[in-house]
This record gives sequence, C-alpha cells and structure tokens, in this order.
Amino acid sequence: MSRLIIISNRVSAPKDSHSGAQGGLAVALSAALRENGGIWFGWSGETIDQFNGHIHFQQGGGVTTAMVDLEEQDVDEYYNGYANRTLWPLFHYRIDLAEYERGFAGGYQRVNDRFADTVRPLVQPSDVIWIQDYHMFPLGQSLRERGCDNRIGFFLHIPWPPRRLLGALPEAAELVRTLFAYDVIGFHTQEWLDSFCDYAIDDLGAQLDGDVLTLDGRQLQVMAAPIGIDTTEFVAASKSPTARLAYRRMRDSAVGRDLIVGVDRLDYSKGLEERFLGYERFLQEHPEERKEVFLLQIAPPSRGAVESYRKIRATLEGLSGRINGAYADVDWVPIRYVNQGYPRDQLAGIYRAARIGLVTPLRDGMNLVAKEYVAAQDPADPGVLILSRFAGAAAQLEGGAVLINPYSAEEMSDAIVQALKMDRDERIARWRTMMDNVEGEDVIWWRKKFTDALMAPAKVDA
Ligand code: G6P
Repeated sequence: MSRLIIISNRVSAPKDSHSGAQGGLAVALSAALRENGGIWFGWSGETIDQFNGHIHFQQGGGVTTAMVDLEEQDVDEYYNGYANRTLWPLFHYRIDLAEYERGFAGGYQRVNDRFADTVRPLVQPSDVIWIQDYHMFPLGQSLRERGCDNRIGFFLHIPWPPRRLLGALPEAAELVRTLFAYDVIGFHTQEWLDSFCDYAIDDLGAQLDGDVLTLDGRQLQVMAAPIGIDTTEFVAASKSPTARLAYRRMRDSAVGRDLIVGVDRLDYSKGLEERFLGYERFLQEHPEERKEVFLLQIAPPSRGAVESYRKIRATLEGLSGRINGAYADVDWVPIRYVNQGYPRDQLAGIYRAARIGLVTPLRDGMNLVAKEYVAAQDPADPGVLILSRFAGAAAQLEGGAVLINPYSAEEMSDAIVQALKMDRDERIARWRTMMDNVEGEDVIWWRKKFTDALMAPAKVDA
C-alpha cells in the first residue's frame, strides 16, 4: 500500500483526539495516516528569524507530523496576506474585501516553494501526496518542478467562485494553470466544481471529457466529494460525561427557555451580523416569544492580524450590546455572545440542549457545525436546523433543514418561529432525513472517495 503524505497549512496534533479538541478533518486525516502510514506536513505556527527548513518531527497516536517554522514576513505575505486578505474574501464572494498587493502573491509563492523544498526529500517514489486547501494551490506545481512525479491530489475546503468573480484576481489564469500539476482535484459541491470547470474551459481553453479536464496535454481528474464528520465518534462524544455535564449546565441556565445556538469562527463569511439582525427582527415581530428563547452565539476569534476580522469583531460587539441593551430584562438577556472556543464533546452537549441550530453563513465551502448539530440530537426529541442555502452543506441537508437566505432578516425571523412551533413528529422526520446523510456520507466515506481516486489513476481513452 502507498504511504500517504498529507500537506496542509495547519497540522493538528493527533494526541488531542480523545479530548475532543481536534476537528473532524484532523480526525479523518489522522485515521488515513494510521492506516496507510505516512507523514502530515505543514507550518508549525511558529516564526523564526531566518528560514532554515529545519523539520520538527513528532510521533503520536500512530501518526508522524513534520512541521517547519516560517519567517514573520512569510506569515504576513502568505498567511495573513495572500491566503486570508486576497483569496479567502474573493473565494467567499467578498470582492469588496479582497486586497491585492504584489508582495502577497510573491510571498505566497515563496512559502509554497519553501514547503516544496522542505518536503521533497521526505517523499519516496511510491508515496501518494494529498494537499489541502487554498493556502497551497501552487504546491503541486512546485513539487513537480523539483522532480516529484508521484500522484498528487488537491482538495479545496472553501467555495470556488464563479468564473467572472475569479477574474478579479490578477493571477487567476496562472493560479488555475498551476492546478493542472495535480492528478485529482476535489471540491465539496457540484456548484464549486462547475465554477472551476467553467473557468478552465472558457478562459483557458481546457477540454472536459467525463470527469477529466485536459489542458496543454496535462490531465486533471475533477471530483465533487462533500466532506462529512466522524459521525460514530461524534455521536459517542455527545453521550460522554463531559457532554452530559455541558447539556445539564445549559438546561439549568436556560430555566425552561428554548436555546438557539450558533457556533462559528469569528469570520465575516459566517453571516453573524446578519444572524444578529435576523434574530433582532424576530424579537421585534414576536414580543410574545421574547422571554421564551435566547440565542447563544459562540464565536472564537480568528485571524486577528487581518483588519477585516478586527472590524467584524467590533461590529458584533456593538450589535450584540445594542440588541441586549434594547431588549434585556432583569432576568433575561436575549443574546449570550461568547468569544471563546470549546472542546468538541462539550459542544456536543450544548448542541443537544439547543432547540434550534442556527447555521447561516453567507458563503461556506461545507460547514461541519450543521452536521455536528444533527449528530448530537436526541433521536426521540431532536431540535431543528436552520441552514443557509449558501452553505455547501445545504446540498446534502436540504431535505430536513429549514433553508433560508441569510441576507433576509424576515426569512430568518419566520424560520425561527417555524422551528419553535414545529411538532415533534415533523422534527423527528426532518432529523431522520438529515441523519441518514450524516451517517451515510461521513468523513470516512469522504476520505475513501478521494483517496481511491488518487491511488487508482483514471483511464482516459486517447
Ligand atoms: C477554514 C479553512 C481551513 C482553516 C480553518 C481555520 O475552515 O478552510 O483551512 O484551517 O478555516 O482557519 P485558520 O486560519 O485559523 O487556520
């Protein structure tokens, strides 16, 4: 069996897997590494004065991780710059927030070259390489330039923007061309995949035959494979003592009121401002419901070195304060706004205690919170998922979730009322539909779908 080399900007330490501190993706990729053997390579999260390519190896839970430090300028230009000030906003349809600075693109390429230089000596001829996410689009190309002819796959965890939007990126054509260095590229939804193919075909003249795009003699297999959660593990986590404790704590503090929960990284793509405004609309339109519910919004801060993230944080602080100021009573606060993260098993208990899961991103590659919320529910008395139609997860969960347009405060308000009034039979039926998907297309299914394609080369008739 081929060894797997997984490369991503962040590398998650496998030792945390039982505390629930690890994300679903990390759990899945660690499992793949344990089965196949291999290495997980990426940035250590640390900086150093002068890049030296020194690799910090770590062993744990049957997985070897290998990490390098970057220079401060690398982090500014590659991570805070091109990845999070240029690509992230543009790929989430926020052309207004995207910044283009020559230093960013150069730094991004330099860091990808540094990763390639560092990882290249670790790669054996029979290894299969799997690169994750938008921090590393050109890494496959950089590895090819260093004589790496292994099978290399790439998976994008964020949306792929429509062709005309991508055109706003000065390096768009070059970036898409470099993707033809890969053998397989995966997206979470058919929509993102179609947008990618549109650009490659209409702007670059690639040809599509079945699921293989050809450009300048190079073939690239394209695939839509929605990522799932580790459902078995998450259901178990939701029954753990920690989860039960968190559940009880929530129930006690709710004093009979219905809990509406949102859990998101503090990011403008998550639609938190719109969510607060939609909830405020609900409070305005339904005075009779006011003290019957409360919203718990958990939003750990993210990417604080980037101005647009500092702005959204300030906006949300202002907005939650204003709404609470306007509506709170001596014994009730409408929004509990919490800026810290919680381990997964604790979250599972909180999800289970919530009558409504509010997952309303303006744009999201997938959104695993939606799936975790479903997996954590009590099958005999499940809550209702209100889901943005612009999350990748909507393609799979539309049969059971209440789908809304997150920009519409009215739709959000109506959906909250619908969810609060929904009888138990309907809640169970909707939950079952969603749970069938969450169980069937879990993270193990996702990982296998991609690695099967990566390890078995596609055959195309000449
Ligand atoms: C998204 C991206 C991931 C990223 C995560 C956290 O889910 O797709 O690649 O790791 O956000 O963001 P951060 O910048 O903290 O790594």
